[in-house]
Amino acid sequence: MLYLCAMQILDGKQAAHVIKSELKIEVAQLAAEGKKIPHLAAILVGTNGASETYVAAKVKACEEVGFISTLIRFEQDVHTGKLLDKIQELNTDPDVDGILVQLPLPKHISDEEIINSIDPDKDVDGFHPVNVGKMVQGLPTFIPATPHGIMLLLEHYKIDTKGKHAVVIGRSNIVGRPLSILLGSNTNPGNCTVTTCHSQTKNIKDFCLQADIIVAAIGKPEFVTADMVKEGTVIVDVGITRDVDPTKKSGYKLKGDVAFDTVAPKCSWITPVPGGVGPMTIAALLKNTYKSCLQKN
Ligand code: GUN
Repeated sequence: MLYLCAMQILDGKQAAHVIKSELKIEVAQLAAEGKKIPHLAAILVGTNGASETYVAAKVKACEEVGFISTLIRFEQDVHTGKLLDKIQELNTDPDVDGILVQLPLPKHISDEEIINSIDPDKDVDGFHPVNVGKMVQGLPTFIPATPHGIMLLLEHYKIDTKGKHAVVIGRSNIVGRPLSILLGSNTNPGNCTVTTCHSQTKNIKDFCLQADIIVAAIGKPEFVTADMVKEGTVIVDVGITRDVDPTKKSGYKLKGDVAFDTVAPKCSWITPVPGGVGPMTIAALLKNTYKSCLQKN
């Protein structure tokens, strides 16, 4: 029997606005009580266009909610030692609550060496192995911003995840792997049965057709097509690829990992691109920075 459901939008812009409004009130309260205001320090290396955009959005969001932010820029050819010195300085600066180093870093720098040098108590990206370990064990910690944002979005829209089959496409340390852990955790949202698909998975379509929830995080524009999705699926699209489009003022169009126009009519819920996961990632980063500040207040 053909079942046509009414599709609804998981509006990340709206949910992020609610979270940011709450944070703004809480920060104003801290200020009124003469307490410390959250301070995020962001490090950007080089001039990668997408990274520039993301970091600018993070700094702007800090301003919106009343946080202090510091943007520290380095040339593309910076030596690892110089970055490590700056991180050490930020680690010991009592005013700084959160440190983020925007990834990817240039090839001559080891992401691992840089991430490991950040004080886990200021690692608001949740990438330090100590924080990843705590997350896996279900202990309180900083959850990486994108998976944290996705969980907050599912929570905001009260999506029923318990006992559902979630297929996560992608196994990156930034999104797919931590999200697979979170969706499978004994939490709400959570309690899913999780399948993590990746570049070596055979027959991804077969897994997707069994999914109640699909999270696409592989960075391949319009990878998930309508024939891969059963009626009523919840879809979260993490993809955000810049596609050249001379008709746009910016010179590009943003494309998700899901072919939205043809997939959306089959879904119960779906995130748009842009305006879905992106704003939630920033809201989650702000929440982590606020949490870090409270731990010091
Ligand atoms: N690059 C892509 N996503 C992220 C993120 O969440 N944090 C950092 N630091 N870099 C990224």
